[in-house]
Amino acid sequence: NLILHSSKTIGVLVPNIGNPFFSSFTRGIQEVCREKEYMPLVFSANHEVELERYYLSRLVERSVDGLIIASSTITNETIDEILKPNGIPYLLFDQNQAHGQGDRVAVDDYQGGKLAAEHLLKLGHKKLVMYLPEQPTENVLNRLAGFKNALNTAGVAFDETNIVKTEFTKQGGYKNTVAVLAKQPTAVFCANDELAIGLYRGLTERNIVVPRQISIIGFDDIDLDEYVTPALTTIHQPIQQLGNEAAKLIFKRLSDKEGKLSQQLVKMPVNLIERASTAQVE
Ligand code: RIB
Repeated sequence: NLILHSSKTIGVLVPNIGNPFFSSFTRGIQEVCREKEYMPLVFSANHEVELERYYLSRLVERSVDGLIIASSTITNETIDEILKPNGIPYLLFDQNQAHGQGDRVAVDDYQGGKLAAEHLLKLGHKKLVMYLPEQPTENVLNRLAGFKNALNTAGVAFDETNIVKTEFTKQGGYKNTVAVLAKQPTAVFCANDELAIGLYRGLTERNIVVPRQISIIGFDDIDLDEYVTPALTTIHQPIQQLGNEAAKLIFKRLSDKEGKLSQQLVKMPVNLIERASTAQVE
């Protein structure tokens, strides 16, 4: 049963509404929706597959016009069972694992990992740790791949033993501080800024001084980075523009009444933002 009337709403499913990354991303979506006189409806299901299916089904019942799926757990089955039969346009955002014909917005994660490695190499670091989520998604693994390859090219050894995994939140970053320190790194590349900020707390509690004793680099460039001490060096993602792009693609899809548009893929660049948390190795 194809739903034909419009509610002028765009559903947005994010994995963790507590991460400032997703507030900037949502702000970007909101800007574009406002121009079009649409409303975004934002949900966070904390990786709970059942809850996500629940929200999606309710949104479909309410005749949502399109969906931006930034959650990592939504699968091809959910898309096939809930979205496709209703003909609802959807867009997959960076960390979503579902494959297929969906429109997609992402950044150059591989290049981000490479830039992080090159920055640390330039500062003389050779004993490195990458701090990763327990179940890294494809985009996060691309950060690792870029990092690793740049190190290998420079002849710096990096393997599984240089990886520490934790929950992908600031609490996670804090909780595994001991495991990071056990590797005795001079620098840590965190898969996102929240991990870095959590790690800051663990280091401060142990009187370890960043960057004098250990350099820290993050990924995302959330607005908090300039407010922590020391200000966090990171790989900048154009977060708000990613939200803008995602919304624009959904509206393009919505106006493609005849279904002529092929799959839309947008990949945006990243760059290094050098702040105060990385320094020359002593
Ligand atoms: O911090 C949230 C992370 O999830 C970001 O790095 C973003 O790219 C998404 O994958």
